[in-house]
Amino acid sequence: MSAFVSGVRAVVLVGFMGAGKSSVGAALSRKLGWPFEDLDERIEAREQRTIEQIFRQSGEAVFRQLEHAALRSLVDEAGPSPKVVALGGGAFAQANNAALLADAGWSTIFLDAPVDELFRRCQEQELKRPLRRERAEFQRLYDARRPCYLKAAVRIETGGKDVEEVADETIKSLGLTIG
Ligand code: S3P
Repeated sequence: MSAFVSGVRAVVLVGFMGAGKSSVGAALSRKLGWPFEDLDERIEAREQRTIEQIFRQSGEAVFRQLEHAALRSLVDEAGPSPKVVALGGGAFAQANNAALLADAGWSTIFLDAPVDELFRRCQEQELKRPLRRERAEFQRLYDARRPCYLKAAVRIETGGKDVEEVADETIKSLGLTIG
């Protein structure tokens, strides 16, 4: 459908833990009929280890290298058909990843929400997140990363909204049509 009409090559969801990147990504993929790729899942498949194991066994610095290599492979493999991509919460805060996405001409969307809501969403989910620590540390990391997230092409406020609403708003913000 509209990839060539719109000029959108990929919709890349960025933002903090609990922003809804994976669930909104899956909804966008369904609505647009574009394949969905979750970068953390790609890292786990390449490594044959969970994100939690990578952090515990190898540390964050190694995780960041693996994350960058996985993103590069995703960009390098991309064909002419558009896709939806969800990044992990720290990926877009790394300058090398942001540069890679800018060079690829991929459209970045910052899914934002108040920190209290992000923290609550993370508490409600079963997913093990090595960098989800206590509330004050969560806030500190969010504050440090927010200026990076704001460099995305579009910011969508997700506070109090459900996944379908956020996906519809994202589609609208990019001028994409469904059909
Ligand atoms: C991370 C967020 C996680 C995952 C890893 C590191 C971060 O992804 O990539 O645990 O640095 O904020 P989610 O944002 O999907 O939880």
